[in-house]
Amino acid sequence: MAVSYKDLGLSNTREMFQKAMEGKYAVPAYNFNNLEQLQAIVDGCGESGSPVILQVSSGARMYADQTLLQYLGEGAVKMARRKGYKNPIALHLDHGDTLELVKSCIDSGFSSVMFDGSHHSYEENVRLTKEVVEYAHKFDVTVEGELGVLAGVEDDVVAEHSSYTQPEEVEDFVKKTGVDSLAISIGTSHGAFKFKPAQCTMSADGILVPPSLRFDILEECEKRIPGFPIVLHGASSVLPEYVKIINENGGALEAAVGIPAEQLRKAAGSAVCKINIDSDGRLVFTAMIRKVFANTPAEFDPRKYLGPARDELKKAIIEKNKTVLGSAGRY
Ligand code: G3H
Ligand code: 13P
Ligand code: ZN
Repeated sequence: MAVSYKDLGLSNTREMFQKAMEGKYAVPAYNFNNLEQLQAIVDGCGESGSPVILQVSSGARMYADQTLLQYLGEGAVKMARRKGYKNPIALHLDHGDTLELVKSCIDSGFSSVMFDGSHHSYEENVRLTKEVVEYAHKFDVTVEGELGVLAGVEDDVVAEHSSYTQPEEVEDFVKKTGVDSLAISIGTSHGAFKFKPAQCTMSADGILVPPSLRFDILEECEKRIPGFPIVLHGASSVLPEYVKIINENGGALEAAVGIPAEQLRKAAGSAVCKINIDSDGRLVFTAMIRKVFANTPAEFDPRKYLGPARDELKKAIIEKNKTVLGSAGRY
C-alpha cells in the first residue's frame, strides 16, 4: 500500500530552500545507511535547530531495506518531535537513476527525490527528468535535477574540458523540466579523494590545499536562474582530524583531500541551498570505531563501538551546521 510522506510527518524541500535562500545558508543533506548514523543526524540537526535532509542512495536503500526505511523515516520524525525538535525533516532519494526507483521511493514515503540524468545527453536528461517531475509533483514531492558531471580523480581530463555545468543550459533545463532545485558541477567530486596531490599546493604546515571551486560558473548559473535553489554534491571537507585518527589506528587513507570549509561557507551564502555530505560521516564513524578497536581489542559489544561513533558524528554535524552551512539556530 502506497503511503504519503505527509502522513509520516516529513516535509518536502520547497519551503526549506526558500528560507535558506532568504537566510543565506544551506540545508545539510546527510547520507545514512544505518540506525546509528540516522540517530546522529536527527539529534545533531534537532539539537542545533537546523532543517535536515535525510539522504538515501539507491545502494543505501538496498542495504537498509526499503520497507524498514519507510519506518525509519517515520520514526525519525516521531523521535524528533518527542524530543521537542521543531526542525523540518525531508527524506530524499540521492542519485535516482530510473523512474521506477523514483516511483517506488515516492510510494514508500520519500518527500523529495533526485533524478540524476547527468550522464545522458542533454536532450535525454531533459526528457527523463521531466517525466520524473510530472510524476513527483502529483504527490507534492520535490525534485532535484543535475546538469554537468562531477569531476572525479580518475577522469580529470573530462572534468577539465567538458564536465562543468554549462551556465547557458541551466535556464532552459529548469524551464523545460520543472525541477525544484538543480545540482551543478563546479569542481567538487564524490568520495574522500577529490583531488590528486599533483593538483594541490602544500601549505606551510604540510596540508594539501586543493584548487578553488569554480565560483565563476556558480555566479553565471545564479545570474541565469536568479533565486533558484542550487545544490552542491561531493561537498565533504574530508575532515583531516578524522583521517589522522584513521591512519593512526591501522587505516590507510593516503592523500585524502576534500573541499575546504571556507569555500563551502562561501557557497552556502550564495544560491547554494543544499550541501551533500556523505564521506565526512563515513570518516568520523570509521575513525571512532578504529580507535575503540585499537584501544580495547577485546571489545565485541557493537554498542561499545557504534555508540562512540554515533556520538562523535552528532558532534561533527552540530559543528558543521554551525560553522560551515549556517543552518543552525534556524528552528
Ligand atoms: O553520491 C553518492 C553518495 O555518497 C552515496 O554513496 O552509493 O555508496 O551509498 P553510495
Ligand atoms: P561526499 O562524498 O563529498 O560526501 O558527497 C556526497 C554526495 O554528494 C552525495 O550525493
Ligand atoms: Zn552526490
